[in-house]
Amino acid sequence: MCGIIGYTGPLQAKDVLLNGLSQLEYRGYDSAGIAFFESGQNVRVVKTTGKVARLKELCSSITEEIHCGIGHTRWATHGGVTVENAHPHQAGRVTLIHNGIIENYHQLTADFHLEGTLISQTDSEVAARVLDQIYDHDPISSIRRLVPLLEGSYGFCILFSDHPGEIYAVRNVSPLVAAYTHSGSLIASDLTALIPYTRKYAVVPENQIVKLTPYRMEFYQMDGTPASPEILEVNWDTDAAMKNGYPHFMLKEIHEQPEALKKTILPRLTKGLPDFGDDGIPDSLFQTCSQIRIVACGTAMHAGMVARAVMEPLLKIPVLVSVASEFRYEDPLVNDQTLTIVISQSGETIDTLAALRLAKELGSKVLSVVNVKGSTIARESDYVLYTHAGPEIAVASTKAYSVQLAALYMITCRMACVRGKMTDQEAASFMEDLLDVIPAMEEMLDQAETIKTIVRPLIDKPDAFFIGRNLDYAFSLEGALKLKEISYIHADAYAAGELKHGTIALIADQVPVIALATQDRIFSKMISNVREVKARGAYVILITKKEADVDPELADVRIRIPDLHDRFTVFPIAVVLQLIAYYASLLKGLDVDQPRNLAKSVTVE
Ligand code: AGP
Repeated sequence: MCGIIGYTGPLQAKDVLLNGLSQLEYRGYDSAGIAFFESGQNVRVVKTTGKVARLKELCSSITEEIHCGIGHTRWATHGGVTVENAHPHQAGRVTLIHNGIIENYHQLTADFHLEGTLISQTDSEVAARVLDQIYDHDPISSIRRLVPLLEGSYGFCILFSDHPGEIYAVRNVSPLVAAYTHSGSLIASDLTALIPYTRKYAVVPENQIVKLTPYRMEFYQMDGTPASPEILEVNWDTDAAMKNGYPHFMLKEIHEQPEALKKTILPRLTKGLPDFGDDGIPDSLFQTCSQIRIVACGTAMHAGMVARAVMEPLLKIPVLVSVASEFRYEDPLVNDQTLTIVISQSGETIDTLAALRLAKELGSKVLSVVNVKGSTIARESDYVLYTHAGPEIAVASTKAYSVQLAALYMITCRMACVRGKMTDQEAASFMEDLLDVIPAMEEMLDQAETIKTIVRPLIDKPDAFFIGRNLDYAFSLEGALKLKEISYIHADAYAAGELKHGTIALIADQVPVIALATQDRIFSKMISNVREVKARGAYVILITKKEADVDPELADVRIRIPDLHDRFTVFPIAVVLQLIAYYASLLKGLDVDQPRNLAKSVTVE
């Protein structure tokens, strides 16, 4: 979604803004722009559709010293991809950038008689014009009067032409982080844009107003009283957000998985058993609940689907998984006996956040599995189990998925011990199996080039099907999502036993079917399903354990993963499925890291 950067200080602001926008490109966008104080009270806007590279070209003729400005990458919501709709938006003395959606923009347009004055089709320009109308030369008091008028989500950065050198910001739901450094003050929609300048930052609290000057950052409550922000420290370095020799962030992040797993698991082991003491998660959280609800979106939800299939048989309590954007409308049966587990890499996905808030309202305790420290979901949860994947830049989630799984498996293990469903010995052996997935993933990473050749015949196909049973079906969901989001090949996952109820009609000569058969207890049933698609001409890529004995005629290609316990095969399989998607996108010559229409962090509903 939209990226935001603001800077005021002694450095050349044009460079800080444009470099910041480059760092934010991974969020997904379709236009970009900057605004800056040119001379005195003159605020100049430069904006364009397309890439930040195009904006850089447009700005190349700007040679004067600039010391205060704001920059934005836009992911279109209201209004098409046009220069007029790109940010910043200017209205009289106000120039602003916005991430989020102002839901009552129609009403505001009528109430403030804006018809005929709007240049763009955006809700953001409406907010700029309303703010200009109520502006009384005091930015803080004007923003205080603006906020109650707005419905929806927003992160605004605002320049007022009569306050040169100052940037004002306010947010509701949409994230903003700010920092004061010896080289001036910065604000951004996420940390990647700040880390070249500082490791210390503050998360802008909702409904507080921030004023940035070259010498300080000030926070104000909505009643105008000053507030003190909590200063946090980034736990990864600039290198972690660079490609470090890899051609794409996605490939780098796929390769980082073994290390990310070690960082997530090892510090939480005491005598071989999971221990969440340092995370402040008490055993009592796991003792009394009578059901678990898992809520998340996309890949994080798929991690939840895998966890459900592992948890329910072990814990012997109902475990339900909901897509976060649907959770609110399901009238969920959630109460104080429910443990809600929320999963999110970014910690900012708006639907997941809304589901979390509802679960809390209904009396449930919320434990979140989050990658980004200090994110909104982390802050609003009762308990957080941080994953330690480091920054994930590619839009397609890879390492975040495997560390989410590792965290969820650890939760399952701890919970099973606490509830008397596993002895310490069984739990220790479960954790040993979990650690064994690390070399198993490394083994699959070593086969990257082989997987590349396997993928070649897929790239001209319009469709692909992923099939599996039980846990293999849960893994298939993620394989299909990964392939479609970056290769644009239509891909779907099916429970293999369900094919005969309709979908098998789509299987014809050379239609690719990626069949997962890694669950020993249902292996023969799965193989029967593979026979059914093969008999109809499918091009079968079959993924099994090494030891599996399979008729060579059954598959066009066979990929063998290490012989792990059924529950743990997801980890090497994840590597295989990620590499299939990566090479499909690469061989098609597509933008692997920034696929069309997608954003890294989905901060609008
Ligand atoms: C998958 O590759 C996507 N990036 C997407 O499905 C993602 O997992 C989803 O938007 C959830 O994001 P979150 O983990 O940051 O909440």
